[in-house]
Amino acid sequence: MTTIDLGRPESGDVIDLIIEDHRRFEALLRDLRNAESDRERVRAAFSALHVAHAEAEEKYVYPALRRKTSADAEEVDHGEEEHAEGNEALLALLECSGTDTQKFDDALEKLAELVNHHLTEEELTILNPAREDVGEATRLDLGEKFATERNRQIDDDCGNIVNVRRIVQEARAEGLLDDSEGP
Ligand SMILES: [Fe+2]
Ligand SMILES: [Fe+2]
Repeated sequence: MTTIDLGRPESGDVIDLIIEDHRRFEALLRDLRNAESDRERVRAAFSALHVAHAEAEEKYVYPALRRKTSADAEEVDHGEEEHAEGNEALLALLECSGTDTQKFDDALEKLAELVNHHLTEEELTILNPAREDVGEATRLDLGEKFATERNRQIDDDCGNIVNVRRIVQEARAEGLLDDSEGP
């Protein structure tokens, strides 16, 4: 269970809530790079937030935006593939027994590359169109649903390695991970 404060929003514009989480991702990645941080704790916090955020997006936000915005379905499908790749890279980081090894650094580098790419692309191709195409009432409604699911996932310890392994296996079974590219 994570002991780092991940915030606990209960309502708000869904786009703002998602972007606040993206800033938390960036801060946690910075701390993970710093050998002076308590990297075990930061890793657990990052894992919980990554899983909770992506699950809540996929459950409530992506389906609504697929219907309502000019972000075509392809962008949203692509976002789900990137979540799966991020979770696969996260699993590799969780599987490192120590945090002061080359293996940990390599796994972190890969994870950071995928997550930074996804945050940028999601903001540009999914969230920016949503600002134009989705009305305020819907954004607030989605914000509450997103926040509730995100918090519930964190309360359920969603970032534990067993759960992350299950999510990666499911994504692979759904064909969201192209294993020919390798991790
Ligand atoms: Fe996101
Ligand atoms: Fe995402």
